[in-house]
Amino acid sequence: MGLISPLVREIPPRLTMNVLVTGGCGFIGSNLVRYLRQQRPGWKVITLDKLTYAGNLENLQALERDSGHAFVKGDIGNRELVDLLLAAHEVDAVLHLAAESHVDRSILGPEAFTVTNVLGTQVLLEAARARKLKRFVMVSTDEVYGSLGPTGAFSEDSPLKPSSPYSASKTAADLLALSYTHTFGLDVVVTRCSNNYGPFQFPEKLIPLMIANALEDKPLPVYGDGANVRDWIHVEDHCASILLALEKGQAGHVYNFGGAAERKNIDIVKGILQLLGKPESLIRYVKDRPGHDRRYAMDFTKAQRELGFTPAHKFEQGLADTVRWYVANRAWWERVRSGAYRSYYEEQYRARLTQGAA
Ligand code: NAD
Ligand code: DAU
Repeated sequence: MGLISPLVREIPPRLTMNVLVTGGCGFIGSNLVRYLRQQRPGWKVITLDKLTYAGNLENLQALERDSGHAFVKGDIGNRELVDLLLAAHEVDAVLHLAAESHVDRSILGPEAFTVTNVLGTQVLLEAARARKLKRFVMVSTDEVYGSLGPTGAFSEDSPLKPSSPYSASKTAADLLALSYTHTFGLDVVVTRCSNNYGPFQFPEKLIPLMIANALEDKPLPVYGDGANVRDWIHVEDHCASILLALEKGQAGHVYNFGGAAERKNIDIVKGILQLLGKPESLIRYVKDRPGHDRRYAMDFTKAQRELGFTPAHKFEQGLADTVRWYVANRAWWERVRSGAYRSYYEEQYRARLTQGAA
């Protein structure tokens, strides 16, 4: 699975943890499940995933014959199932990633975001509290902080100002999780991470969408002026940070994680075209995302100081590796892009591509 952060190797593994990963068939979840099996081979990892449009069991194909991993198809909102699963697998800790994760989809249809991200999280927290689990890691996002101007970076103390239904639902879940430490003494750690990239990302997000479109010589839809900035972290560094939060984080604390790689969207898109040897004439400036956050940047000094976190991947190398992965795994994303994804794609971009920039 590529580079392994040297930091994580230094942590003495606990031999007997049973860890539930929710959303383990999605992009970050599937990378995390594989990462945990590599880094903590003595642990048992249980994946709970509803297999929505974004969840793909194929992402965990490498673990098909792995007796240290179990897959359960189901909804985090199903309390009976969650109770059963926590008991049957004697789960010690939850790493909670299951979510509706795409901002554009939350603008087209916000309800699923409240149901899964808020109410689903509530169900998991209640179940964790009832079983007095050792730790609950809530995987939140930098989007809880809203948007930045041209300078500065979010710290854990920055005000929470989510802009989209997605980020508002994640903020609700994040705060709900923290309230379970303050009120009920459940051991919760919250991680807030910036934009991830890497293998197995669903091709509706910026980087895999642009790679796949470029490979098919289709237009590359850049929102607004393309000058919005995100702070990019390789998914494997995010996985390392979640393991650090689980093993070293303090109960009731929040930790920011980022890749120290702020980039304008348009520069990433041009970089992808260059890596693929495709012309910039494929770029289309299209109507902007409503309420589009201008800039994210993360101050992760707390995680560096307290957890020993440092992102191991350099963005330009990581992007080149990611482009290579999508070239080599064309069959994977072609299957993903068929069926349900196609109708979503058409709804999302039909108007934008015909209207041009706002
Ligand atoms: P993803 O959309 O690729 O995967 C989400 C997974 O959750 C899918 O496998 C899906 O089937 C599953 N799921 C959805 N609803 C469910 C439900 N009700 N019950 C059980 N499973 C359900 O998302 P991702 O990009 O891998 O993000 C994972 C988590 O990390 C999310 O919580 C997201 O908010 C957070 N996060 C993502 C990023 C990023 O850049 N992608 C950055 C910071 C935080
Ligand atoms: O910051 C963390 C968040 O990053 C996570 O919490 C979310 O789950 C994840 O989806 C991601 O959200 P973004 O909205 O930042 O990611 P997305 O890939 O959708 O968009 C990245 C930037 O690219 C954003 O400024 C919008 C722009 N964009 C996106 C798409 C899909 C385009 O210009 N064109 C596009 O077609």
